[in-house]
Amino acid sequence: HFASVEMTPGDPILGLTEAYLADARPGKVNLGVGIYYDEQGRIPLLRAVHEVEQRLAQEAKPRGYLPIDGLPAYTQGTQKLVFGAESPLLAAGRVATSQTIGGSGALRVGADVLKKALPKAKIAISNPSWENHRVVFIAAGFEVVEYTYYDPQTHGLDFAGMLADLGKLEPGTVVLLHACCHNPTGVDLNAAQWQQVVEVVKERQLLPFIDMAYQGFDQGIDADATAVRLFAASGIESFVVTSSYAKSFSLYGERAGALTFVAADRDEALRVQSLVKRTIRSIYSSPSTHGGALVAGVLNSPELRAMWEQELGEMRERIHAMRAGMVEKLAAHGAPQFAFIQQQAGMFSYSGLSKAQVDRLRDEYAIYAIGTGRICVAALNRSNLDTVAAAVAAVSKA
Ligand code: LMR
Repeated sequence: HFASVEMTPGDPILGLTEAYLADARPGKVNLGVGIYYDEQGRIPLLRAVHEVEQRLAQEAKPRGYLPIDGLPAYTQGTQKLVFGAESPLLAAGRVATSQTIGGSGALRVGADVLKKALPKAKIAISNPSWENHRVVFIAAGFEVVEYTYYDPQTHGLDFAGMLADLGKLEPGTVVLLHACCHNPTGVDLNAAQWQQVVEVVKERQLLPFIDMAYQGFDQGIDADATAVRLFAASGIESFVVTSSYAKSFSLYGERAGALTFVAADRDEALRVQSLVKRTIRSIYSSPSTHGGALVAGVLNSPELRAMWEQELGEMRERIHAMRAGMVEKLAAHGAPQFAFIQQQAGMFSYSGLSKAQVDRLRDEYAIYAIGTGRICVAALNRSNLDTVAAAVAAVSKA
């Protein structure tokens, strides 16, 4: 039966973690996968999350099924985070949110729903984008096209190129946008640039699909949602937002994500939500309870919510400090050309390292980065910073 199955290439990100785990060298560093590690090199268990977890253990509740679209306390909490509690869209009932199996699950369910609603639409993703964006949308049957985004010369945004490409897309094309902390480049738009993108999207009648996997990881919960808030205020009738609590709650393995559709009115939102539910039911039936209960527990307690915001702020500040530290150390090791790392935002930096240089980092220094040169700066700490900077400087020279 399976004789004709060929070996499928490993995932460029998660496959790298497999190689890292199998590496026996001491002092190895994984700058591959997007995970935030603390100063001690551990994935933090946030205090706010731990509090809820202890309460849940005390309550020892039965584990019934959640509704197909998840816990209402979770989806409502998500809507307030994404749009702001006072959003007129929420008051108008135009927003339909589902709890999903991580941000990836939100992307896939969203893609499947769009394929049913708009069978002919293509999707445009940034060049480059998170590798899995292409994979997910192709799996859902989409033709994937690209728009200009990153400028390798400046290690920043090619904004003119981006606007020009968006302006040429066929009306009705779905445009995938990264709300903040662009993955893989770390290159973001400012508010004025977002406003210009909103205008082009409106004019070309494109459908925005905003992936917000890192809310709160660069400037703060509201500042990082600028793109979403501008689209919400734009008068554009419909758009999609996917969110993830993997990073902001340090809940990677709990697979806590959300899929939100904004529709023209309350009735349309109900109809779209019925299609979302049918779609979820056909894939995994309903989401899991634990991660959802943790997030809902934090978001709906003023005390724990404040604690979480503080912890999120600490993670964000540590990333900023690591960016500054990396630039400083690289310069000290004779590689001042990496100053751009400090301008980039979020977990990642597109370092400009070539595949050959990334291979050398792994083979000679036991430092793992993605072949495209993406490094996760959130995996740096005061103990590995100097070693990593020295190695990156060394491979950049030769
Ligand atoms: C990443 O880009 O490393 C993260 O989003 C994790 C993943 O699933 O790829």
